[in-house]
Amino acid sequence: MQMDSPLDAAYWQQRYQAGRTGWDAGGITPPLRDYFAQLGPPDDRRILIPGAGRAYEAEYLHDQGYENIFVADLAPAPLADLQQRVPTFPAAHLLLQDFFALPATPPYHLIVEQTFFCALHPRLRPAYARKCAELLGPGSTLMGLLFATDFGPGTEPPFGGTREEYRGYFAPYFDFVHFETAYNSLPPRQGRELFICLKKK
Ligand SMILES: C[S@@+](CC[C@H](N)C(=O)[O-])C[C@H]1O[C@@H](n2cnc3c(N)ncnc32)[C@H](O)[C@@H]1O
Repeated sequence: MQMDSPLDAAYWQQRYQAGRTGWDAGGITPPLRDYFAQLGPPDDRRILIPGAGRAYEAEYLHDQGYENIFVADLAPAPLADLQQRVPTFPAAHLLLQDFFALPATPPYHLIVEQTFFCALHPRLRPAYARKCAELLGPGSTLMGLLFATDFGPGTEPPFGGTREEYRGYFAPYFDFVHFETAYNSLPPRQGRELFICLKKK
């Protein structure tokens, strides 16, 4: 689905190769770290990080002892970066694949969103919500951060939007546990991110 648009694998690989990665926080962001901290001891839940990039969240969870973390990205460069940083991360869990083509079985228990939704063309937003729902088992969780801000007109990511717009995409599939401005964003993102925690119906 994503492959026929200009925001394809070649586009993203080129951005990594050119160092045009302004989205890259260089480490796990505080809202995700704090959420993971309250999950309790590591278990065998299946965790998916789509559009993972260098996947600092995967590194963090791996270091905590989670073993079923999967990262998906169209571009090989950031997955190679993760493999180099974390040689013990299972190579079979690095999915060089289009998120929209990921198999839905076995289901995931947790999907982690960090700067992926805003990287997709806005016309793909309904499909993003639908695909997340397809990949999760009933009662499972989609959590993370969505930029609720206006980045202005443009043909390149990030693409912004509003809380109310986003709510409409997820409401058919999810119950809303949290859907509000994050209080612990990185300073440059303060007040511009929604922290979301949604349970699949
Ligand atoms: C803005 S970057 C964010 C990366 C990472 N989550 C972060 O915060 O550093 C968006 C990422 O999504 C990946 N991507 C874009 N479209 C994708 C798709 N359809 N399937 C999988 N990955 C995709 C890109 O290659 C890129 O690594």
